[in-house]
Amino acid sequence: MPVFPEAAFELQQLATDGTSIDHVAKLIGMDQALTLQVLKMANSALFSGSHKVSTIRDAVMRLGLDHVLNLVICTYQQGLYKSSNLKLRNYTYMAWIHALITAAGSRWLARELGYAEIRDKAFLSGLLHDIGKLVLIKALEAITSKNSKVTLSDEIIGKILATLHSEEGYMLMDEWSIPSAYCNIALEHHKQEFDTENHLLLIVRVVNHACKREGISASNGEQPLLSDLPEVKALDIDSDTLDKLDNFILEGVETEIRI
Ligand SMILES: [Fe+2]
Ligand SMILES: [Fe+2]
Repeated sequence: MPVFPEAAFELQQLATDGTSIDHVAKLIGMDQALTLQVLKMANSALFSGSHKVSTIRDAVMRLGLDHVLNLVICTYQQGLYKSSNLKLRNYTYMAWIHALITAAGSRWLARELGYAEIRDKAFLSGLLHDIGKLVLIKALEAITSKNSKVTLSDEIIGKILATLHSEEGYMLMDEWSIPSAYCNIALEHHKQEFDTENHLLLIVRVVNHACKREGISASNGEQPLLSDLPEVKALDIDSDTLDKLDNFILEGVETEIRI
């Protein structure tokens, strides 16, 4: 089972405690690889917009402390999405790209819809909503590495991921003591009945659908038109914004694949 890095917790705690920008910049700066990766993400079109930053302090000033901490968590998360099994490697890669684009897309949509105050929460919710898929991929990897006679068809892998990931994700995040708002999104992002007042959940559900419609997911299936979704109606999203969301997603994937 993947472990949520303790350093990410510590940084989150510092942010909650209202620490200074210099202190956080110094802590991140102690890890050179982390610094480079965070700066790379901070300068990617997917996360920042037009401003370029060259130091962690700059990044915090321009993007805000919460967003930079999210990028730190993102960097740690990326390290977990690896697989030694050739067949599962593709699933792991798609699961990572899906998590990343859902995170960035959810942050973008939150701001676009006028919910800027929850944009960083939307990012983290998007990043973690399908973490159960990673748990399941790691479990399948362990089974196949212990027994070389076990072969997994795409149909079986797809079925396991699709049916079990919400509960698995919820349990893992609960074990990591992630705040319940995020755990509940992992649990409820595919439920037929959902809270239409929970904007965070609605935003992640819309972006999740949009990614899947573009084929950006480890387990794809038939997807309804975005404009037909009850989540889109609950958030009152117009067709122009839906088109912009689609463009944001496609450009984001292009950027990521190029990197
Ligand atoms: Fe999902
Ligand atoms: Fe998803």
